Amino acid sequence: MNFKSWSAERAEHFELCAKKALPPDNRLPWKLHEAMRYAVLDGGKRIRPLLAYASGELVSADEAALDHIALALEYIHSYSLVHDDMPCMDNDTLRRGKLTTHRKYGEAMAMLAGDALQAQAFFELTQTKLPGEQIAMLVKLLSAAAGSAGMCGGQAVDLLSVHQKLDLDTLTLMHRMKTGAMIRASALMGLYGGKKMPSAALIGLITQYADAIGLAFQVIDDVLDVTADTAVLGKTAGKDAAEDKPTYVSLLGLEESRRMACCEIDKALEALRAIEALSPDYEGRTERLADIARYILSRDH
Ligand code: IPE
Ligand code: IPE
Ligand code: MG
Ligand code: MG
Ligand code: MG
Repeated sequence: MNFKSWSAERAEHFELCAKKALPPDNRLPWKLHEAMRYAVLDGGKRIRPLLAYASGELVSADEAALDHIALALEYIHSYSLVHDDMPCMDNDTLRRGKLTTHRKYGEAMAMLAGDALQAQAFFELTQTKLPGEQIAMLVKLLSAAAGSAGMCGGQAVDLLSVHQKLDLDTLTLMHRMKTGAMIRASALMGLYGGKKMPSAALIGLITQYADAIGLAFQVIDDVLDVTADTAVLGKTAGKDAAEDKPTYVSLLGLEESRRMACCEIDKALEALRAIEALSPDYEGRTERLADIARYILSRDH
């Protein structure tokens, strides 16, 4: 199956899982449940679930466990987008081609929907039938990625840096935290869906792969903010410059930003070659991860 068909099939499967797993909107408090469903369902590229499914393939992970892991990742990500769009953060009106959650349900419901999705994410991890030590590792990875050393920390640096010119190291750290941390967790968590704990060598190389694509992902997000149309992006283009955010494009320009993202994708593909060389078990099994890396560079939204 080629990448386009595989990713479409996985995204559709994920959508069905999420529809079933999210609290129904006819259960009280129905407004909150409606807002949670609105924030997660019907939209998004589902890159984090795709990464978990693809790395899970490497270790022949349990299908049902991967579904819970994918849900947990996308719940945290969707909550981060709901809060990112609120007036106290980026103040956006459009997300995934729809009104932002706070525009549709009001700020209080949007804030609570984000909070509840975060709690629901960790609940999902308790629903796998994996050994306890693997579930504990999943909780550790996701909480570290979502917290102040990861996504929330990166978001804080982002907001504290408006109207400032960051140096490249600080900007890179901000990107690694706000976006890279969740991408890293996505690739790593798939490895814990297998029958046993993953080896240190595999963890190390998947971390190298994920750190490279995670940085490239946010650099391309910065590029697309400048080059893409709102209609294609599904979110308001030109927002970073309008808000005077420090981005790769504002610091290095478009061409150098693209070059840096390409360089990161090369590093990611190199890590995958090293995985294939690690053991015959992995031979021919990194192709999905390679496809995701290349997609991150070529995507138009
Ligand atoms: C947008 O993430 C925010 C960033 C972390 C750059 P995505 O580009 O993955 O957004 P969706 O999930 O596809 O809408
Ligand atoms: C947000 O980065 C990253 C998150 C953790 C949500 P951006 O603010 O650049 O994301 P977009 O461009 O609004 O999707
Ligand atoms: Mg933001
Ligand atoms: Mg934003
Ligand atoms: Mg952006």
